[in-house]
Amino acid sequence: MSGRIPRDFIDDLLVRVDIVDLIDSHTPLKKTGTNYVACCPFHTEKTPSFSVNRNKQFFHCFGCGISGNAISFLMNLNNLEFVEAVEDLAAFAGIAVPRESNTYQVDEKKEDLSSLYQLMDKTTNFYVQQLRSSEEGKKAVEYLKNRGINSDCANEFLIGYAPNEWKALANSFGQDSLIKAGLIINKEDGQVYDRFRNRIIFPIRDKRGRTIGFGGRVMDNSLPKYLNSPETSLFHKGNEVYGLYELLKKNSKPPRILIVEGYMDVISLSQAGVNYAVAALGTAISQAHLNLLFRLSPEIVLCFDGDKAGRAAAWKAMEPIFLSLKDNRSCRIMMLPQDQDPDSLIRKEGLTNFTQRVHAAQALSDYFFEHVSEQLNLSEMEGRAQLVGKAKPYLEKLPEGIFREMMLSRLKTTSGSTTLNIFNNISTPQKVFSEEQPPRKAAQSSARSAKTAIALLLQNPRLINNINEQEIDWDTLDIRGIELFKNLQQVILSKNTINTAVLIEHFRNTVDEKLIKTLASSNLYVSEDNIDMVFADALNSLLKQGKYATIARLQAKAQNQGLDINEQQLLIKILATK
Ligand code: CTP
Ligand code: MN
Repeated sequence: MSGRIPRDFIDDLLVRVDIVDLIDSHTPLKKTGTNYVACCPFHTEKTPSFSVNRNKQFFHCFGCGISGNAISFLMNLNNLEFVEAVEDLAAFAGIAVPRESNTYQVDEKKEDLSSLYQLMDKTTNFYVQQLRSSEEGKKAVEYLKNRGINSDCANEFLIGYAPNEWKALANSFGQDSLIKAGLIINKEDGQVYDRFRNRIIFPIRDKRGRTIGFGGRVMDNSLPKYLNSPETSLFHKGNEVYGLYELLKKNSKPPRILIVEGYMDVISLSQAGVNYAVAALGTAISQAHLNLLFRLSPEIVLCFDGDKAGRAAAWKAMEPIFLSLKDNRSCRIMMLPQDQDPDSLIRKEGLTNFTQRVHAAQALSDYFFEHVSEQLNLSEMEGRAQLVGKAKPYLEKLPEGIFREMMLSRLKTTSGSTTLNIFNNISTPQKVFSEEQPPRKAAQSSARSAKTAIALLLQNPRLINNINEQEIDWDTLDIRGIELFKNLQQVILSKNTINTAVLIEHFRNTVDEKLIKTLASSNLYVSEDNIDMVFADALNSLLKQGKYATIARLQAKAQNQGLDINEQQLLIKILATK
């Protein structure tokens, strides 16, 4: 495990990069006044409501409400995890990402990975070149043509050719790295030779487009038909799917993802217009695969051959599916006709028919109950009892939620079982009601001042210098929102470099994140010249209202139960400064 990325580095990075350049490189921006605008890359629209502010280093879409800093932009655009986005942003800025507590070993390992990635990229290019410009590559091109793959599609998937030589790679690149990358094989006598020879090459890329492994197919009937990269430090079959990078490039928020079996299925579906398919890499579908894909899309359709092996594979997928089916995630099962795979089927019946099949895929619940009821006689009690026995272990794997409830209730109905205690781990979600008191007028207006003060400070952190710390005893003031305001001041004072983006970053994954983002993007209709004045006003009225509220609280307490000595002194002090 590598160490954490230091917070200071992230802050610096957010000050160093310009979000306008970053976003402009993905989505061309137009300048209007102080902002830059474009049609939102995160939802479909005809007139631009996506705006980027250079001073705040912040983007916001008035259409879909998405907002954030440069890191959030990359996370959303490329479906990245936080660390991945920081790494990509640093790469955009041309700086390396430091790690905390870097032991020698960690350093060495990190070094390794980036050189391995480079080697994989070089190798990808090498194979592509071999396909396109070597004499030998012609037969590979011929093979692809015969299978109906056009050159655009071959380019998109970076399809290559590994020459029929023992040492094409082994003689060109460093041997140690080639072994670590799984590209050459070490014989017992110390001799090495290339793993992939005389094969069509399919580079397997991660979400970020980096080649992590290869698949290679023979061009005749020899065996093995396919050869894949072994597990390496870059490549873990159980976690990766083929075609994901290409899919996300075309659609970063696909409404559904289709899982098929083979490389050629993904490629030929994509060429025919089904650009939402990926393939498990010759392994069974795992929970990691599903979680990866469910983070990108709410619906997964699993496509299986109609033969015996396909049916067995479908049933085998139930366990990982059930484990990953949280609410708002859904799965469908698509069984293909006998002797067809997606590649052959779409060529035979075309895009429209194939798409119809996808839409008509069987709901997981139907598939499941059909399968568990197979060969059971449900008109007899024995059969129904067997049904419960078969289904229950699966249903118990489902995460709590509405889907689980519904599946359990369907099992109860189907089995006619009224004995509830076998389902005793069903829990009904409890609704939590929060009865908020209607706020009084004063509280409302102080909340408004607090909001203005927080928003202005957030949008112009330099205003921290306008707050005269000594004069204000924030702790004595009774105001909604004051905690956040205080907190914000502390954050600003603790940072070496500061802008709105850094502040937003600070609140990522905290309870205040949403509010902070809303305030950062709220338009206060204050012109640049008036910012200081409006901030001072907001602060003053905040203080005044805070004082009134405190006085009111203390006076009420004095009448009801009396004040202790500290409270008395506080009251005197506040009354004196009023
Ligand atoms: N596979 C593999 N190793 C093999 C055979 C298959 O890794 N020896 C994986 C590959 O990812 C392959 C998938 O399983 O794409 C499906 O295999 P198969 O149905 O045999 O091949 P197709 O995808 O139909 O390939 P093609 O159309 O090229 O024959
Ligand atoms: Mn096939």
